[in-house]
Amino acid sequence: MKLDITYLMKNLTNEEKTGLCSGEGFWWTKAVERLGIPSIMVSDGPHGLRKQADASDHLGLNESIQAVCFPAGSALASSWDRELIGTLGEHLGDEARAEKLHTVLGPAINIKRSPLCGRNFEYLSEDPYLAGELSASYVNGIQSRNVGVSVKHFAANNQEYFRMSTDTIVSERALREIYLAAFEKTVKDAKPWTLMCAYNRLNGTYCCEHEWLLKDVLRDEWGFDGIVMTDWGAMNRRVEALEAGLNLEMPSSNGVNDRRLLKALESGRLSQETLDHSVEELLRWIDKGLAAEPAIDSYDQEAHHAFARKAAAECAVLLKNENNMLPLAEDKAVVFIGHFARAPRFQGGGSSHINPFKVSNAVTAAADLPNVRFAPGWGDDGEQADAARLAEAVEAARSAEAAVIFAGLPDSFESEGYDRTHLNLPACQDELIAAVSAVQPNTVVVLHKGSPVLMPWLADVKAVLDLYLGGQAVGEASVDLLFGQSAPAGRLAETLPLRLADTPAYLNFPGDSKRVVYAEDIFVGYRWYDSREMPVEFPFGFGLAYTEFAISNLQLSAAAFAGEPITVTAEVKNIGERAGKEVVQVYVAPPAGKTARPAHELKGFAKVELAPGASQTVSFSLDARSFAYYEERIADWHIPSGDYVIEVGRSSRDLPLRATVTIEGKPLPFIHQDHTTIADIIEAGKGAAISELMQQMEQVFGGGREEANADAAVSDLMRDSMLLSMPIRSLLSFASLGDDFEDKLKRRFENEV
Ligand code: BGC
Repeated sequence: MKLDITYLMKNLTNEEKTGLCSGEGFWWTKAVERLGIPSIMVSDGPHGLRKQADASDHLGLNESIQAVCFPAGSALASSWDRELIGTLGEHLGDEARAEKLHTVLGPAINIKRSPLCGRNFEYLSEDPYLAGELSASYVNGIQSRNVGVSVKHFAANNQEYFRMSTDTIVSERALREIYLAAFEKTVKDAKPWTLMCAYNRLNGTYCCEHEWLLKDVLRDEWGFDGIVMTDWGAMNRRVEALEAGLNLEMPSSNGVNDRRLLKALESGRLSQETLDHSVEELLRWIDKGLAAEPAIDSYDQEAHHAFARKAAAECAVLLKNENNMLPLAEDKAVVFIGHFARAPRFQGGGSSHINPFKVSNAVTAAADLPNVRFAPGWGDDGEQADAARLAEAVEAARSAEAAVIFAGLPDSFESEGYDRTHLNLPACQDELIAAVSAVQPNTVVVLHKGSPVLMPWLADVKAVLDLYLGGQAVGEASVDLLFGQSAPAGRLAETLPLRLADTPAYLNFPGDSKRVVYAEDIFVGYRWYDSREMPVEFPFGFGLAYTEFAISNLQLSAAAFAGEPITVTAEVKNIGERAGKEVVQVYVAPPAGKTARPAHELKGFAKVELAPGASQTVSFSLDARSFAYYEERIADWHIPSGDYVIEVGRSSRDLPLRATVTIEGKPLPFIHQDHTTIADIIEAGKGAAISELMQQMEQVFGGGREEANADAAVSDLMRDSMLLSMPIRSLLSFASLGDDFEDKLKRRFENEV
């Protein structure tokens, strides 16, 4: 089926056109039967399908069809694996087609500004480069199956507190470098069919009616040619939103806003051209999904479950493994402790909540192992202490050869809709880990949670395996990992802090009920911890393997950057005894300068699988953006001159290989304004125009003094500093320069190249 869009645009009435601008039911667009425009269905996302056939809601309250629950975004990002995420996208695309879904509402790629955001379990990373690379792979995967995505939530929606109305106050630089960058990458590299605008306001304007965001940046700069839909219930002023580039209101306003559009059109407030343009984009989107012929009627659920199991291991981050505690020998007497061993927490609550067709657990998955026992340890809700269960667990641990505690956050501790207020595990779990590790030296903690937790017992346990929220096959995956059938291959996509008070947004999260100020600006995640040289529990990018790797032989294709991308290569070798995967990471550290920049930023990564003794050369490409920051004064990316250090290694705190790239950047263009200072003029290379003036001024301020004593040094410094920071116009107060002095100076600037 194909729509004849030119014909349709000629024949649709304005009532039908405005009707198409909002949904019907909870998940459908409206049909125009007389012209053959079908109603199409969208559905959450992002890590599985939440197709609701009957009662519908956007909070995951009502039942959805059975589907496959893959690892959640927080886990997926820890894979650092573009290929894996691309395959996940293909699987989701196949499922969506089998379920007759046109567009999947995901990926959710908001940046993890604070570990307290209730929805971080769904989001990917604190780093926009990593989030953007993975998101583009996800989108390419799904869309290769002719199923659309809705990349969400655009933009700067990084908390749940008053998420539908709060005003995010953030600089343009932080937006460009941190909060928009992953969207930019996804739009440019994967051409998503749709984007979902966020609920919140952005610097005073609701995202749904934000012309700068939806038109200037998204469409004009990035070349987006799909449609923008609202998050569910995010519409504010319908006419302004349409004019700003918002196509589809979801789920609907029960006709109210359609009529508002019609009235605005009739009164001349809204132009026919604006409405037609938007409707044409909508029809093109609808049409894309209709091309997916032949229809797929089913998919192999078991094969997708097997993929989910493999993916969970790829995402698992081994945080500690003293004396190679893991993997465990299969005949070891081991006790699994904690109710998550029997009922794992494998996904989060809210609109991403999947109804999995089956869920595996570690106790059942280990049933064939001869010496594995189980003790629940605490209450089945994960929160309540239970003295009898605690005593039983401690006794079981004492008499075993190793204890594996399946700990983590219960559902009530993190969810869409509300934020966390602390980083602790439930007290009963911390107590049990302390009690068990006191009697059993071989204690392993397996974590199930979507965001960072504090680990007061870290020094007392031998190993920590972080599964995040590993999807419906996490039970089998955890046993595979613990006993070495698979190897943990994840790396942290976010920093694990030592204290909540250390986190970048600590003083400004979540703001008051009206607004939140992103005062930490660009210093988010490791950009904050590393620039401030703060200790952390585990750094961004960190993760161990069951083997060891050596990274060596860093080479650059050029020692200077002049516009052509630089190729960076390094060799990685498995120097251990087991097969495994390493994630080689490339960071760029800028030269010191007047503009504050992060100590370094991730600009490349590659995941490689190597047999023992094998090695491989990995290569990365650094382009202009790898060196640039967003300079608000010129409203563009800018690369200052200097030496940039290319750092290669395995986490933001373990970068043993270094090389330098020299850049002769362009100076910032000089614009003479009434606050232009002498320093601005010198920095812009316009010194010649004022050299004569400077000499005069030095005389006025006591230059040319002979004595070289300490006092003179201080006053010279003072004079120079004051002179440099003085606006040009103020010079008139200190020397007789004539009425036309500023004009003359301006002419000289213009003549000076
Ligand atoms: C969420 C979206 C979701 C939508 C539909 C909203 O509450 O923020 O992520 O796609 O509901 O369920």
